[in-house]
Amino acid sequence: MTTGRRRPLVSGNWKMNHDHIEALHMVRDLGLRLKPADVADVTVVVHPPFTDLRTVQTLIEGESLPISLGAQHCSDLDSGALTGEVSPVMLARLATSYVIVGHSERRQIFAMSDECVASTLRAVLRNKMIPVCCVGETAEERRDGKTEAVIAGQLRTAMEGLAAEEIANAVLAYEPIWAIGSGDAASALDAQDVAGFLRSVLTDLGGEVAGEAVRILYGGSVDAGNAADFVAEPDIDGVLVGGASLDASRFADIIRAVGSCYRS
Ligand code: PGA
Repeated sequence: MTTGRRRPLVSGNWKMNHDHIEALHMVRDLGLRLKPADVADVTVVVHPPFTDLRTVQTLIEGESLPISLGAQHCSDLDSGALTGEVSPVMLARLATSYVIVGHSERRQIFAMSDECVASTLRAVLRNKMIPVCCVGETAEERRDGKTEAVIAGQLRTAMEGLAAEEIANAVLAYEPIWAIGSGDAASALDAQDVAGFLRSVLTDLGGEVAGEAVRILYGGSVDAGNAADFVAEPDIDGVLVGGASLDASRFADIIRAVGSCYRS
């Protein structure tokens, strides 16, 4: 059993799935499934596509659902001539609480650099939202024994120079790229090794108090069968879920599995 100094987070990254009508049904269904006890010790976040955000926000507020709103990405600037981008100011106005920053799909498919991850993270903090900063290595980097060097580099570039309170407020997600959408999750022990290492880097960057405060998530093929194993580890404080977060029943099972590890 984990004692739970840090409140765990279960975040659902929908990626480019569910239009706003489907989003409405999914979140309403999720809200009906979650009992107060399920969310007493767990923070639940959904990260729908941009076009769904207003619909989901209205639903969450209107029905007082115990679910926080997240986005999957945003611009690093507040406004300007940036065709196709979405401003963090606009997200904050929609009561968005969390923003995923530097997901490997943004890094790999859209060529988001470590520097852009850093400036986007600052934009999220500037607008009083919580960044969920993603780091992770490829299968090849792992094979070559480069995991720590790669993720430490990503983390340092993202957070170097932030104030200790800003670091403490951030969420860090370890998402090995080979585990995303593959059905081949990391073992809980391997994920703990990496999370412990990341916490030591965070402590180096922001000091002991900040390093201990940061919630570190594991992501990559998480489901109801393995979620509890991850959060039972001392340095893993939740999960970032892709595919299994699209279905209300599967996502609720994951939330309950995580909560059961934290219940006193
Ligand atoms: P997955 O995705 O759960 O479908 O592996 C995780 C993610 O990319 O955040």
